[in-house]
Amino acid sequence: MISRFAALLLAFLATPLTAEVRDLKACFQERCAVCHGPDGTGRGTNGARLGGRNLADARWLAKQEEAELVAVILRGRGAMPGFRRQLSEAESRRLVVEVIRPLAARKRP
Ligand code: HEC
Repeated sequence: MISRFAALLLAFLATPLTAEVRDLKACFQERCAVCHGPDGTGRGTNGARLGGRNLADARWLAKQEEAELVAVILRGRGAMPGFRRQLSEAESRRLVVEVIRPLAARKRP
């Protein structure tokens, strides 16, 4: 309950409509949506599984360490390539905080 509320609150706080936030959302659509889906659920617009983890699972996300997610995005894990060459650590962190968290807050488990 509390984590769901916290996720919503965070989404609200972390979603100012600045150009930079829009850029990171575009970055997610360009680089991550191919596996994680445009809405982060790991499914394409036709509902087919794409292979990436469901990032919009609020219960799962609430249990993750932010630093670990930031590190996995940079270094990769399993079938997911690392994005160290394309993203700085700060950008990776902002993807987690400003893009992935709001995706999870939008979807009810
Ligand atoms: C080639 C497909 C693919 C692409 C592209 C991709 N991912 Fe993933 N992602 C995966 C898979 C598969 C997993 C599950 C990895 C595992 O745990 O084995 C995953 C897991 C994750 C996780 C969870 C890590 C954890 O600790 O469990 C995060 C966060 C994530 N991806 C973010 C991103 C972001 C942000 C991008 C774009 C910059 C991205 N992914 C691009 C396939 C992809």
